[in-house]
Amino acid sequence: MRLILLGAPGAGKGTQAELICESLNIPAISTGNILREAIRNETAMGKMAKELIESGELVPDDTIVSIIKERLSENDCANGFILDGVPRTVTQAEALDKLGVQIDKVVAIEVKDEDIIRRLSGRRVCSACGASYHLQYKPSREPESCDRCSGKLIVRKDDEPKTIVERLNTYHEQTEPLVDFYRQHDKLIVIEGQEEVKDTTNLLFTALGIKI
Ligand code: AP5
Repeated sequence: MRLILLGAPGAGKGTQAELICESLNIPAISTGNILREAIRNETAMGKMAKELIESGELVPDDTIVSIIKERLSENDCANGFILDGVPRTVTQAEALDKLGVQIDKVVAIEVKDEDIIRRLSGRRVCSACGASYHLQYKPSREPESCDRCSGKLIVRKDDEPKTIVERLNTYHEQTEPLVDFYRQHDKLIVIEGQEEVKDTTNLLFTALGIKI
């Protein structure tokens, strides 16, 4: 399956992508994770992206297109993939078409802005490996410590309340037009993001015909 997950920041794309990739054994590709790793490693791309990400803006389309072109050429993508958070502009979607990337389905996860703001304030991420947790919905076993690598859990810089509002504005202006774009291409499934992770997973897996 070649799938795109669309949705506002904090809609649950990363959380659901992880569950689909476990179930179907295909890679989940998050441009956000790739960029955060570049920031941690202080590469040229990371240095360029840092300020944009921390102020809630998008990274330039040409950077994203070259990331995704390289990543999709890797062997593990041969039998399918999940794109989490990419494309994020109509220009990026058109670039995927031009690269000949075939997409089976696009799932838009809809969550109200006020729920997003509340939800993202509870997210914690591992400063070492990037694993994601939530104080209420996905707590770590030990407070402030990563289950996977024991790294320290922190609040993502772009999860500060002011930046969340900026990211939501960016989403509505630049990414939401993709909902119509993919509706016109007959690829779109819309699901309502639920309060509980497992309820969203049930809706998503049913819509995609995946056995739970
Ligand atoms: P990125 O990392 O993609 O951030 P985002 O889209 O803002 O997505 P998030 O990671 O915040 O949210 P999510 O939808 O994955 O939610 P999650 O599952 O974590 O991008 C970061 C930045 O990089 C962008 O702002 C931009 O600057 C840049 N960038 C990346 N891609 C780009 C591109 N293509 N073009 C240009 N720039 C790009 O869930 C959130 C929290 O809620 C978690 O703690 C989770 O446990 C919890 N949760 C999840 N589901 C539920 C549920 N159903 N109920 C309750 N809680 C839930």
